[in-house]
Amino acid sequence: MLYSHKPIMEREISQLILRDPDGFYLDATVGLGGHASKIAGFLKDGKLLGLDQDSQALLYAEKALSPFKGKFYLIEGNFKDTESILKENGFLPLTGAVFDLGVSSLQLDNPSKGFSFREDGPLDMRFSQKNPLTAAMIINRWPEGQICQILKEYGEEPSARKIAKQIVVERKTKPIETTKELASLISRIGFHGKIHPATRAFMALRIAVNGELSNIEPGIRGCFSCLKKGGRMAILTFHSLEDRIVKNLLQTFVSEGKGQFVGEKQTRPSQEEIQDNPRARSAKLRVMEKTNEK
Ligand SMILES: C[S@@+](CC[C@H](N)C(=O)[O-])C[C@H]1O[C@@H](n2cnc3c(N)ncnc32)[C@H](O)[C@@H]1O
Repeated sequence: MLYSHKPIMEREISQLILRDPDGFYLDATVGLGGHASKIAGFLKDGKLLGLDQDSQALLYAEKALSPFKGKFYLIEGNFKDTESILKENGFLPLTGAVFDLGVSSLQLDNPSKGFSFREDGPLDMRFSQKNPLTAAMIINRWPEGQICQILKEYGEEPSARKIAKQIVVERKTKPIETTKELASLISRIGFHGKIHPATRAFMALRIAVNGELSNIEPGIRGCFSCLKKGGRMAILTFHSLEDRIVKNLLQTFVSEGKGQFVGEKQTRPSQEEIQDNPRARSAKLRVMEKTNEK
């Protein structure tokens, strides 16, 4: 089955990075193969390398990319290792790359992955089944202070202390094992604003389980070092923590005279796209061109 999926800012990304149909391209977060299909469809003698940590996502990507046989390779791996993966696979120098950070609709909508508080499932939240850390381990084993810290730091959760305290109280009676159990605990004590009270805590847990923030800098640096002069990378972010890391790193490349922003420093999706696909509403796109050989 092909999962229905709308790649975010696909038109803008394609216009900005697809410039040589004979070049090497990287999709560092191939997911369901949405952006990757657009890249593969543009290629003539060029090749695309699609990377994802999630082996199940790669099965979907393979199906989505099936019309472009011979033009792509899919690899299960973490984009923090982009540089060595590109070198090992002879993908140098790189003409273009896309990073579409975060979680896919397939992962969010699959209750067994445990990303969503709207569906009941195990508190898992791992992109990769090889990751030894699950959200249940954090919730049931980590000290209160550490749980409070990730809720504050990664979720900017105003009720972090109260939630962490209650988790530790309730887990003494019975381990907290499902998304609904955790969501209902948070709903009883968390802040009720415009969004569901569990939104921030679930995001914080997801970031902690997958070490999401610590992968960004090595991934982007590694990819940038493999770009050829004039090569471009497009990065989509969905929340302020990841966006800050990306913005500062790209700004460093500019200050060092190695890169320049293409177009605006950041581009937002059009109103039509947001209406058509609400997931696009928090997206920010940054595109950088490498301006020197090294
Ligand atoms: C937003 S989705 C990408 C969707 C894709 N652009 C498309 O059009 O179908 C993000 C994907 O990145 C993957 N991912 C997240 N962090 C990763 C990492 N450090 N290394 C490799 N893949 C990662 C997730 O497993 C997920 O499949």
